Amino acid sequence: MGRTVDQNWTRAAADSDSMRDLGAAFGRLAPDGAVILLEGELGAGKTTFAQGVGLGCGVAGPIASPTYNLILEYEGRRHFTHVDLYRLTTETDLDTLDIDAVLAGDGITCVEWPTLIAECVSSPDATLQFTVNPRKPGVREVVVSLRGRGWSRLIDWLADQP
Ligand SMILES: Nc1ncnc2c1ncn2[C@@H]1O[C@H](COP(=O)(O)OP(=O)(O)OP(=O)(O)O)[C@@H](O)[C@H]1O
Ligand SMILES: [Mg+2]
Repeated sequence: MGRTVDQNWTRAAADSDSMRDLGAAFGRLAPDGAVILLEGELGAGKTTFAQGVGLGCGVAGPIASPTYNLILEYEGRRHFTHVDLYRLTTETDLDTLDIDAVLAGDGITCVEWPTLIAECVSSPDATLQFTVNPRKPGVREVVVSLRGRGWSRLIDWLADQP
């Protein structure tokens, strides 16, 4: 059983590089098997964050947006899986993906547009809510909530960030 971490963190990313840095911290410090759900409007920075996660996992080479592929997998120091369910519209379509196997992997998995699979996710997992600051469109806010065990190294890192 996972311990519920009963706390949220809000962090701002002033530009794409700091968004990638935030993602890279998750790639380095999230527990094995973590599933990270990325929620927020079109263009909010979910793929940019996920690219950072891949870098933090030690993936060499470009990390593309999986909008058309749905699932892209990478080998680094840690296995990194990047899922984007934007084009998935029904649960029947979901049956064509072996999503349970993807979610059960022991690497790090990021899922953009995760609504249809949210119920299938077990801990350790994280939900990140991305928003664009309407007054400063380059600035993104990210609200992080974490569930389950193994997050203490990431929590220490978040606590050190402004
Ligand atoms: N602070 C920031 N953080 C992240 N991206 C930023 C930031 N400022 C500007 N951008 C730009 O905003 C865009 C974000 O696009 P990205 O593909 O990451 O969004 P997304 O949430 O994955 O969108 P989609 O829902 O279409 O998949 C990129 O072009 C990026 O360079
Ligand atoms: Mg995207």
